[in-house]
Amino acid sequence: MASTVKTKTDLAFQRCVMPDCAATYDVADVRTSCDACGSLLDVDYDWDSLPVPSSLQSFEEKWSRRNEPLCFSGVWRFVDLLPFAPTNKIITIGEGQTLLHPSDGVARFVGVRPGNLLLQYEGMNPSGSFKDNGMTAAFTHAHTIGARRAACASTGNTSASLALYCGVSKLMQAIIFIGSGKISYGKLSQALDYGALTIQIAGDFDDAMHRVQQVSTKQGIYLVNSVNPFRLEGQKTIMFRVLEAMRWEVPDWIVVPGGNLGNSSAFGKAFYELHQLGLIDRIPRLAVINAAGANTLYELVEGRGLRWNNGRPDASIVNNYYAELDDANRRASTIASAIEINRPVNLYKCLRALECCNGVVREVTDQQMLDAKAQVGANGVGCEPASAASVAGAKLLRAEGVIAPTERVVCILTGHQLKDPTATVAYHTHDQAEFNRVLGSRGVTRAAFANRAVQVENNLDEIIRAIELNS
Ligand code: F0G
Repeated sequence: MASTVKTKTDLAFQRCVMPDCAATYDVADVRTSCDACGSLLDVDYDWDSLPVPSSLQSFEEKWSRRNEPLCFSGVWRFVDLLPFAPTNKIITIGEGQTLLHPSDGVARFVGVRPGNLLLQYEGMNPSGSFKDNGMTAAFTHAHTIGARRAACASTGNTSASLALYCGVSKLMQAIIFIGSGKISYGKLSQALDYGALTIQIAGDFDDAMHRVQQVSTKQGIYLVNSVNPFRLEGQKTIMFRVLEAMRWEVPDWIVVPGGNLGNSSAFGKAFYELHQLGLIDRIPRLAVINAAGANTLYELVEGRGLRWNNGRPDASIVNNYYAELDDANRRASTIASAIEINRPVNLYKCLRALECCNGVVREVTDQQMLDAKAQVGANGVGCEPASAASVAGAKLLRAEGVIAPTERVVCILTGHQLKDPTATVAYHTHDQAEFNRVLGSRGVTRAAFANRAVQVENNLDEIIRAIELNS
């Protein structure tokens, strides 16, 4: 196969992640794995020949030019750190206008000092999740190579994002693959409303992912799942914005939910590159948090000792684990449907990120996630269940003493509260039968932070009494 491997021709190119292979490919190639060894690809750059900014502060110059779309975008104002596309081909819909909220209420819940807990709220993106950061980048690449159809498998947010970019731009048709009954209504409604061709497969996300890869290869459809290395270039900018909001100071911890492991992989690449370029002097620690019902990364890293090992991970640990899952017919199962994934496609890139960032992996139960979610909501931000894995994970790491109370912790809130109202309403309900129906099978037994609606007769005195009693 080596004859198909191209040599790099440009300032941006694609490169196999495995250092022993390191095959390179043209930036305009459409591929999601290395021809030579089958591994994942990175987008890489000839930084020595590119105009690299002398400091991160220099990006502040873009703030005064917010009326220009590429300066307005929270992704493309950092274009110098992801320079793979001609700027006249970039498709932006104003993604990345997100906020870093300090929350002393959540700091108390987690157990760190006031001021030390920050929530990076990616729910403010146009489609309501962090996915738009990556989608603008993959969509731009698809546009530069003239794609007319783009596909993804999704637990709901990637599909909502793809559907939105297709709907706004009319440049491509969106074809989305979802597992049947595996997607929250908030997310499904977006894909349908934005006009995506929606293929509902009898199976779960792992099945849908497998099929979309087959179909897109066979039919020449552009694949935008995070096996697409351009997606991750866009997701690097979440970390650039965190640093920007901290006035370019590096936090001690980044805590992120882990599903398909695109974010954690992108964050590791972001910090590696910033460090290599001399733009930061230290790298924060990374904590990736699985749902206990979809805990492949946790099992492999913390349970079985899998490591990146300088680019020589022991693939037999992974293969044996997947064979065990198959033998036991074990499927991912969690209320956090966004991260209900047992075969994360970016596993190896995530291992590399963990090595680069001295990372740790933890698992949290659905109960822990929903309690953390209620605390995030009560402190005025609001997120979907999977996002709260970051806060629940930070609390766990604090209780273990891995995170110190004096450390500054950034938890990534990946998706908007309205993405999955079913879980939220069930948590807060006074109706025990409804609580059990939605949450009982998930091992959720109590709602310590429930805010129950007060039932009252349609009677003025009764209404006033209810208000006064509860004020
Ligand atoms: N949080 C939310 C809200 C998500 O939608 C996802 C992934 C993750 C966390 C996990 O991120 O894959 O980078 O580790 N959602 C994908 C989807 C799988 O199809 O929308 P990851």
